[in-house]
Amino acid sequence: MKLAVVGGGSTYTPELVDGFARLRETLPVEELVLVDPDAGRLDLIGPLARRILAKQGHPGKVTTTSDVDAGVADADAVLLQLRVGGQAARNQDETWPLECGCIGQETTGAGGLAKALRTVPVVLDIAERVRRANPDAWIIDFTNPVGIVTRALLEAGHKAVGLCNVAIGFQRRFAENLGVDPSEVFLDHVGLNHLTWETGVRLGGPHGADVLPKLLAEHGDAIAESLRLPRPVLDRLGVVPSYYLRYFYAHDEVVRELGSKPSRAAEVAEMERKLLQMYGDPSLDEKPELLAKRGGAFYSEAAVDLTASLVGSGGSPYQVVNTLNRGTLPFLPDEAVIEVQATVGHEGASPLPVAGLDPLFSGLVSHVTAYEELALDAALRGGRDRVFRALLAHPLIGQYELADGLTDRLLTHNREHLPWA
Ligand code: G6P
Ligand code: MN
Repeated sequence: MKLAVVGGGSTYTPELVDGFARLRETLPVEELVLVDPDAGRLDLIGPLARRILAKQGHPGKVTTTSDVDAGVADADAVLLQLRVGGQAARNQDETWPLECGCIGQETTGAGGLAKALRTVPVVLDIAERVRRANPDAWIIDFTNPVGIVTRALLEAGHKAVGLCNVAIGFQRRFAENLGVDPSEVFLDHVGLNHLTWETGVRLGGPHGADVLPKLLAEHGDAIAESLRLPRPVLDRLGVVPSYYLRYFYAHDEVVRELGSKPSRAAEVAEMERKLLQMYGDPSLDEKPELLAKRGGAFYSEAAVDLTASLVGSGGSPYQVVNTLNRGTLPFLPDEAVIEVQATVGHEGASPLPVAGLDPLFSGLVSHVTAYEELALDAALRGGRDRVFRALLAHPLIGQYELADGLTDRLLTHNREHLPWA
C-alpha cells in the first residue's frame, strides 16, 4: 500500500505519521511519499517521519519529492493537506473581513471564499495528475474549505472523499465523558463541513440508545464552555453544534473578539516556527507536545480509518465524511456535498439515512449550500460578479454594500493567487 501526501511538508505531517505508526494493523503503509513544493520543509519532515516510524518498529519507507507527478505515481491513495499561500494568505483571510465588520476566518464567510478561490484550481490540477497516474487511486481531501473542494473534485469526476476532524473530536470527547471506548460512540452528525450539529449520541451503533440528553445533563456545562456558547443556548438547541456555529450564533461577539487580538494565523505561524526548529533536531523521534495546540487533534486516526476503508484493508464500519448528498437531505440538491455518517468501502462512501432535520438547522444548511454552489462557480470561472454573488448569498453577509466592500478586498489581497483578478 503506497500513500502519497500532498502538502507533506506541513507541520501537521508528524501527527499523521504518528497515526500510521500506531495504527499499522488497520492501515499497513509500505511506502509513504511526502510531496511538497517546499524542499526545505521536506528535508526536515522527511527524516523526522522516518525516525517516528523507526522508533515504533514500523517497516514502511518514506520518500520525499517536489514533483507531484512522480510523487503520486502508483499511489493507492493520495491525501491532500495543502494550503495555497501558506499562513500568510490565511492571515489575510482572517484580517480584511474584519474591516467590514465581518468574521475573519479561514473557512467561514468571506475569508473562506478567498481560500476556496485560491485552492480549487490547484487541487483540481493535482487531482488530474493523480487520475493520469492511476485512475483507481482514491483522493482524500483534508484541504479546506473541505465542502467546496470536495464538491469541485466530485463534479470533475474524481474518486474523492472529504475529511474533517470535528466529528472524531466529539466522538472521542463524548466517549471519555461516558466512560466507554470511542468505537462504541455513534454520532448522529449532520450538516455541511464546518456547519454541523450532533443531533444524537448513540451507544453501540446507528440503532443504539440515544444518550445525548444524559450527556447534556451531566456534562453540558463543560461542553458549552469548550464551544464558548452559553449553556442555556445548548439546552434550547437540544443538540451540540460544532464550534464553527459560534461564528453564526454569536457573530457580533466573535467579530469584536477577533478585532482585539492577533489572528489565529499569526499564532499558528509562531507555533510553526518553533515546531520546525524542533523537527530539525535529529534526536526528536515522536510528535512533539506543541503540536497538540493545533486544531488537528485525531486527524491521523480519522485519516487512517478512511484510507483503510477506501483501499479495502479495514477501517470502522461507520465514518463521518464529506460526500454527495444524493437525496440524504431531501431539501438539498443531489450534487451538494454534505458531512454525515457513511459506510465506506472500496467503492467509496454511501451516506446513512438521516432523520428529518429541524428547520432551525435545515434552513442554515440550505442557505450555506447555495453559497457553496456559487463559491465553486466563482472558483472555477472567476470574475468579480461571481465573487460578489457568492458573498451576497452568504447568510453572514447578505447586503450589497457589504458584499461589494468584501469583494474589493478579497480581490486586492489575492491577486497573486488569482490569475483572472
Ligand atoms: C480543525 C478543523 C480544520 C482546521 C483546523 C485549524 O482541525 O477541522 O479544518 O484546518 O482546525 O487548526 P489550526 O491549528 O490551523 O488553527
Ligand atoms: Mn475541518
